[in-house]
Amino acid sequence: MIGTKGTVVAVNGNMVSARFDGAVSMNEVGYVKVADKRLKSEVIRIRGDVSQLQVFEITKGITIGDTVEFTGDMLAVELGPGLLGQVYDGLQNPLPQLAEAAGYFLERGVYLDPLPADRDWEFTPAVKEGDNVERADTLGTVPEGAFTHRIMVPFNLYGTYTVASVKPAGKYKISETIATLKDEKGKSVAVKMSFRWPVKRAVDCYEERLKPEDPMVTRVRLIDTFFPVARGGTYCIPGPFGAGKTVLQQITSRFADVDIVIVAACGERAGEVVETLKEFPELKDERTGRSLMERTIIICNTSSMPVAAREASVYTAVTLAEYYRQMGLNVLLLADSTSRWAQAMREMSGRLEEIPGEEAFPAYLESTIASFYERAGLVRLRDGTLGSVTIGGTVSPAGGNFEEPVTQATLKVVGAFHGLSRERSDARKYPAIHPLDSWSKYKGIIDEEKVGYAHGFMRRGTEVEQMMKVVGEEGTSIEDYVVYLKGDLIDSVYFQQNSFDEVDAAVKPERQKYTFAKLLAILASQFTFPDKNEARSWFNRLRQKFLDYNGSEWQGTHFKELEKEIEDAVKGQSKGLDKAAEKILA
Ligand SMILES: Nc1ncnc2c1ncn2[C@@H]1O[C@H](COP(=O)(O)OP(=O)(O)OP(=O)(O)O)[C@@H](O)[C@H]1O
Ligand SMILES: [Mg+2]
Repeated sequence: MIGTKGTVVAVNGNMVSARFDGAVSMNEVGYVKVADKRLKSEVIRIRGDVSQLQVFEITKGITIGDTVEFTGDMLAVELGPGLLGQVYDGLQNPLPQLAEAAGYFLERGVYLDPLPADRDWEFTPAVKEGDNVERADTLGTVPEGAFTHRIMVPFNLYGTYTVASVKPAGKYKISETIATLKDEKGKSVAVKMSFRWPVKRAVDCYEERLKPEDPMVTRVRLIDTFFPVARGGTYCIPGPFGAGKTVLQQITSRFADVDIVIVAACGERAGEVVETLKEFPELKDERTGRSLMERTIIICNTSSMPVAAREASVYTAVTLAEYYRQMGLNVLLLADSTSRWAQAMREMSGRLEEIPGEEAFPAYLESTIASFYERAGLVRLRDGTLGSVTIGGTVSPAGGNFEEPVTQATLKVVGAFHGLSRERSDARKYPAIHPLDSWSKYKGIIDEEKVGYAHGFMRRGTEVEQMMKVVGEEGTSIEDYVVYLKGDLIDSVYFQQNSFDEVDAAVKPERQKYTFAKLLAILASQFTFPDKNEARSWFNRLRQKFLDYNGSEWQGTHFKELEKEIEDAVKGQSKGLDKAAEKILA
């Protein structure tokens, strides 16, 4: 396939037009030769004998007449053992090694092997000579951190193959052939521990897609109890500048109940990325007892990299996620922020002089976003095991206006919406997920009816609060005032969560269920107070106790003492259950 050559006929920012002689296909990789460097690019349009390429590097110095070498290969990632714990740029260059090879200011045109070439992997074969295999079938395994990494038949080997030979158990490097397969016509294929797969094509080596149903516990109460995310589902976190999108994703990447987390930091401030990088290796993963970094892959494009690389990074990230799903693992992909990726699309579309859609985004914005989120999913593999990819993306709409095209396009396809509110983040009510605007289509860890009943107090409480702003406290009935206080209670002790408190930062599902039941019993109680001042101070004391309760060690002595105090206080004040609640609590 190698051989098609082109000549640069125009340069427009990060887009190069090249006239070619031979065959070129969409999404093929080409290298623009400038001086002694080869700059990686991707074909994004073909018109007759001229192709447009987006260059993943700064295009300075490219002139008309420069050579373009087309590779015949699609933009692809290398899949194999050694991905976990890596920090890559959008083109899968390992960043720490890149910095070492090229110096502090990353030089363009330097591309490194994504996987460690010199590392020995302890291989155990899972097939024997004469076995029939298909793509994605397991040929053997190697341990990778806490996981059993499946060495699979490369996903692009369609059809049935017979194992002609397989290496015995032992140590091998990824460059070594570990099996030889024969196709139906008797042609041999040498298989190594790694292979390539085009990033823009969804990995589809599974038996069937299943409806995501089990919750992916994040240990954030507001999410797990009220706006849950399913394993294999999708969700988005739109929020104005500084409202806490990145912090929320960091908390999730640490505590979410999944095997592997892939973080695609596209176009965020370099400083934030560095923070993550510094912290992660020191943090322990509770499930495995190992460093959190050992189950994490970070794809990071800082804002100093050209926009085209941002686009590549979301596709690279999702392909790595799909690869680990093929091993029967649960993978969470966090993309921060998808708006930066959409901006890259807009820029490129402008250069291609396409007819612009709303706010100058391309008309295909919606379908592109949809096909990205569609790569999430719960699947049943050929061997019967289940694997999942869950995708959570942040959106940073200008001015926090959720009506803009990227937020709207995302809302149409995701299963849950965690809208961050400027008002709440300004009031330091974290996580700043808006309890009234947000929604989820998934089932959570607690019965929906109970959740709905509790949520009703937040909604009604807010209505009373709005009304009070008009008519004043005097004009509000004591019954309404108590509803307002109940709404305020659930907000303070359940929706908000102190990410700096060791205990409260991450709450396990059993504790969420337990404290939710306690809170529900309070909400469902009928209280009468002689006046609003009494009501207010009674609820203030209760709130403080509940906050201490939230911060105390689960089922410890202090926890039990506080629980008793709360129950006694409620018993002393309650005049029985709310009629509407009786059925729900039964
Ligand atoms: N859960 C939280 N607990 C405590 N503080 C928080 C929390 N979430 C956010 N903050 C505060 O808000 C600041 C901004 O948060 P963050 O960087 O996550 O916002 P962002 O929405 O990602 O912003 P940007 O739009 O600039 O990317 C943090 O540095 C932190 O001080
Ligand atoms: Mg951020």
